[in-house]
Amino acid sequence: MIRWSVPSAMAPTETPTKPPIGQAEGKREQVEAMFDDIAPRYDLLNRVLSMGIDVWWRKRAVVFLGEALLDRPSALLDIATGTGDLAIEALSLNPEKIIGVDISEGMLNYGRKKLEQKGLSDRIELVHADAADLPFDDGQFDGAMAAFGVRNFEDLQAGLGDIRRVLKPGAPLVILEFSHPRAFPIKQAYELYSKHVLPRIGRTISKNEEAYTYLPESVAAFPDGEEFLRNMEAVGFTVTIAKPLTFGVMSLYRGRA
Ligand SMILES: C[S@@+](CC[C@H](N)C(=O)[O-])C[C@H]1O[C@@H](n2cnc3c(N)ncnc32)[C@H](O)[C@@H]1O
Repeated sequence: MIRWSVPSAMAPTETPTKPPIGQAEGKREQVEAMFDDIAPRYDLLNRVLSMGIDVWWRKRAVVFLGEALLDRPSALLDIATGTGDLAIEALSLNPEKIIGVDISEGMLNYGRKKLEQKGLSDRIELVHADAADLPFDDGQFDGAMAAFGVRNFEDLQAGLGDIRRVLKPGAPLVILEFSHPRAFPIKQAYELYSKHVLPRIGRTISKNEEAYTYLPESVAAFPDGEEFLRNMEAVGFTVTIAKPLTFGVMSLYRGRA
């Protein structure tokens, strides 16, 4: 496994990152409204903007989770499930049940239709809930995962903390999230794409003015690598590990409750 190096300007004892810019109070409502609006075109946008790599990234996340499970899981939790693609992928781990939660009813409704069409409604349940206030008892889940979700939390620490609460002791959490490529010329090419190409394509297909300028801005403001692991550790996750994917454009994180 590859571990990120600690950036020299950042002492290992530094306190966890404050919520990124825009994660002030009221962000939850803005994020919810934004995803409600783009829900019908969300899956298409993902495929187009990532050139299909998002499917592979989710597969990698599920494999990373599977590596940390001891037995066949009885219950898995997909946080910020959106239209349910990660939850569907996680069926390959053969759990008895998967519950997906999200704050956007628009995304969940679209996901429910997809599950119905695929005949998966009895295996995956989609629930309207905030990651920071999960409607579950302590220690219910054998594993949890989140793809492209935690960056949108209004309060990252509250979200990570409540995910840990509902996991069984020692159960793994896997997070897939955008990170910051640092090597030339990937860094420059990625910045060009995410600041200039992605917002234009996103705006044209989604018809939403904000959503695809918010994406690169929220990625830029979000902690990655070791800095993100410290946020996990601050709420009690242990055995944390970061694994960059696709030249560091994306990262997988894992920790145990
Ligand atoms: C980019 S989408 C990711 C959807 C899905 N996980 C995927 O793989 O495509 C981000 C999702 O996070 C959800 N979200 C944002 N903040 C949340 C929170 N505090 N609790 C639960 N879901 C949240 C949004 O509503 C949105 O559906």
